[in-house]
Amino acid sequence: MNVISITETITVSLPVDSHHTFALDSWKISEGSYDVKNNYLLESLFAQGNGTIGLRGTHEESYCGPAGSSQEGNYLNGFYESEPITYPENAFGLARNNHFMLNLPNGKGLELWLADEVFNLANGRILSYQRELDFKTGILTRIVRWESPKGRQIEVQSERLVSFVERHLYAIRYRVTALNFNATLRLVSTLDANVQNLAAGDDPRVGSKISTPPLKIQRYQNTPTMQAMEHKTTHSEFHLVSAIAHASEDWTAEETTGSAEQQVLERYFSAQIEQGRCLSLCKFGSYFSSRDYPANGLMERSAEYLEQACQRGFDYLATQQAAYLDAFWQKANVEIAGDPALQQGIRFNQFHLLQSVGRDGQTNIAAKGLSGEGYEGHYFWDTEIYILPFFLYSKPEIARKLLEYRYRGLAHARQRAREMGHQQGALYPWRTIGGEECSAYFPAGSAQYHINADIAYAVKQYLEATGDNDFIVNGAAEMVWETARIWLDLGHYPTSRPEVFCINEVTGPDEYTALVNNNYYTNAMAKAHLEFALSLVEQLQQKSAADYSRIKKHIGLQDEEIIAWRKAAQSMYLPYDEALKIHAQDDSFLSKKIWNFSDTTDDKYPLLLHFHPLVIYRHQVCKQADLLLAMLLLTDQFTLPEKRRNFEYYEKITTHDSSLSSCIFSIIAAEIGEHEKAYSYFMETARLDLDDTHNNTKHGIHTAAMAGTWMCIAYGFGGMRMINGELHFSPNLPQQWQHYQFQINFKRATLNIRIDKEGTEYRLVDGDEIHFHHGEQSMHLNPEQRCVFILK
Ligand code: BGC
Repeated sequence: MNVISITETITVSLPVDSHHTFALDSWKISEGSYDVKNNYLLESLFAQGNGTIGLRGTHEESYCGPAGSSQEGNYLNGFYESEPITYPENAFGLARNNHFMLNLPNGKGLELWLADEVFNLANGRILSYQRELDFKTGILTRIVRWESPKGRQIEVQSERLVSFVERHLYAIRYRVTALNFNATLRLVSTLDANVQNLAAGDDPRVGSKISTPPLKIQRYQNTPTMQAMEHKTTHSEFHLVSAIAHASEDWTAEETTGSAEQQVLERYFSAQIEQGRCLSLCKFGSYFSSRDYPANGLMERSAEYLEQACQRGFDYLATQQAAYLDAFWQKANVEIAGDPALQQGIRFNQFHLLQSVGRDGQTNIAAKGLSGEGYEGHYFWDTEIYILPFFLYSKPEIARKLLEYRYRGLAHARQRAREMGHQQGALYPWRTIGGEECSAYFPAGSAQYHINADIAYAVKQYLEATGDNDFIVNGAAEMVWETARIWLDLGHYPTSRPEVFCINEVTGPDEYTALVNNNYYTNAMAKAHLEFALSLVEQLQQKSAADYSRIKKHIGLQDEEIIAWRKAAQSMYLPYDEALKIHAQDDSFLSKKIWNFSDTTDDKYPLLLHFHPLVIYRHQVCKQADLLLAMLLLTDQFTLPEKRRNFEYYEKITTHDSSLSSCIFSIIAAEIGEHEKAYSYFMETARLDLDDTHNNTKHGIHTAAMAGTWMCIAYGFGGMRMINGELHFSPNLPQQWQHYQFQINFKRATLNIRIDKEGTEYRLVDGDEIHFHHGEQSMHLNPEQRCVFILK
């Protein structure tokens, strides 16, 4: 039995210096002892969510560890406060307001009293401790055996879920067994609005600079059936009702206390317990906001919702949860035989992506999901370029919702374009929640104009993989054309080189190089964007003339503009260095001094925390894949030898200080035959959060890197690319594995791809037919021939 004296362990000094190690279970993460040292980190890893609600993996009992080793966090996707950004030195057109995902009233709290002693992991003795988050059931279970200072022993089993089916609901089942005593127990269940967002410190990736308390209490309800508080945000003026309700046959409900001043509501329960007996209580919690429903009925809506949850009970929700996850894994499961650590890593990542992604068309997926406040809950290009492919090929309906979110933001994007001096068209924000540009540091923010092309690229991928033509006339064409217009205004034909179209003063994906001319990625993606815009023009002209006229009229698109798109696309300047025979990241990049890597010690990474941006910008040093990302997304525009030379050059100067980098290097390494490198970059990505390799998972998981892991499997080892709407595979088996398999949902068919030492098996598991390429071979599967095996 594992016996830990907590009073000793909590004296450790922070910051955390050792990482938590999980048993290598492929369908869950579990811990076998209470690890105070890594508590903050574990709260992110054990976080739960359903795309709407996110709860950090904090314990039900109040936390008594050292200051700074915990952040209570409960979030609602898309529910944010907005505050003016104050610039000591102002300039025209800078982003005016910041949005930040709010930390909501905490409804998880449960305080257990054994006669006169309170159960808390920080006092008494933990006799045994087990906590696990199960990817098949979606339940976080903790079983603790504990001895009080006076020698009373109990077992507490708590189970928690955030329902994938009932998107406003979470539930806790709390079971207490007396192991060696009889006594009167008391349980105090709380809804506590004394919460705070993480304050901003020196790390630009963390915290909000909130000046006023964002949540103002409007009213509350404290009745035997429900405890609820209604708050209103100060600037964004959203209403929120946070509520809890309880169901138990074992506990006797007693008084309720609390007030608006205290900002906490308490519901008391008592019970007589005898040795060996188990008492159970279920607590249900909900969040409803005026982002989804009219403000004036939120309290009543919560009451009805929670009443139904209480009647149905925890088991009902648990069954629904397991069924939802079963369907998800049927479509999304990736299997790796021969490496349990990676297997666990990839499933953990997929599970967290599912927990994080908004799927109502009004919300999106934040860089840290719903697991923490890093990057203030903002949505970035991470969605379209890194995360969307995973959903596109496993749950395409979610991919569409993510794109609908962008379509909804078109009005904001139009307004932003005007602020940036563009007379027409739309410019999407670099980072946002509600649609406004929130990037306060424009060189690494608003200057990333490639966001427009990234969104267009994702739309194209979506249409090609699903054949969902309905979306073309209901959003896609309008969005793609409006965003395409920006390139013509932004770029120009220089008088010294009138034959080329150049785009100046932008920042590409690599945030260690800013405000440059002709960033290769941006230019190449803009070219692809313009070509796609033109292909939608042709498609609608031919097949849907009425829609074509309607949309064109709606946005005032002129024929001359379309002609100009074609010319700009054909003339787009793409920098290439003849001497080095590589593509240049931008016009000036290769003429800069190379960063002195040999004198940069490990403790100086990430560079952004140790060097002024200008120092970084004037060197050849990359934070993340930039040109290499263009080689992945626009794969057929580079020859294999070019890809090799580019990889070799840019690998030497890339720090991977961004978590978005290693996965792209893994994929390109696989393509050019650098199999060992492909594998080690993949290892860095696959367990990035589980092993906390970037040392900041405590502020939230990294959703783009998580999805990057999936891309490493499909695009990297599987060699999958979609070229002109057709699927191509070129699989390779890492020598460390016996086999691996993954699934691709393509045009309503599901294809299972299994690669082992003998060869590759393609199996049509769902749908009528599928057409694809294996290397140079063209393949077709249908109900008569469902499966084909191709020898190595
Ligand atoms: C990266 C960006 C990314 C952001 C959010 C930054 O570190 O450089 O490319 O969008 O993190 O994940």
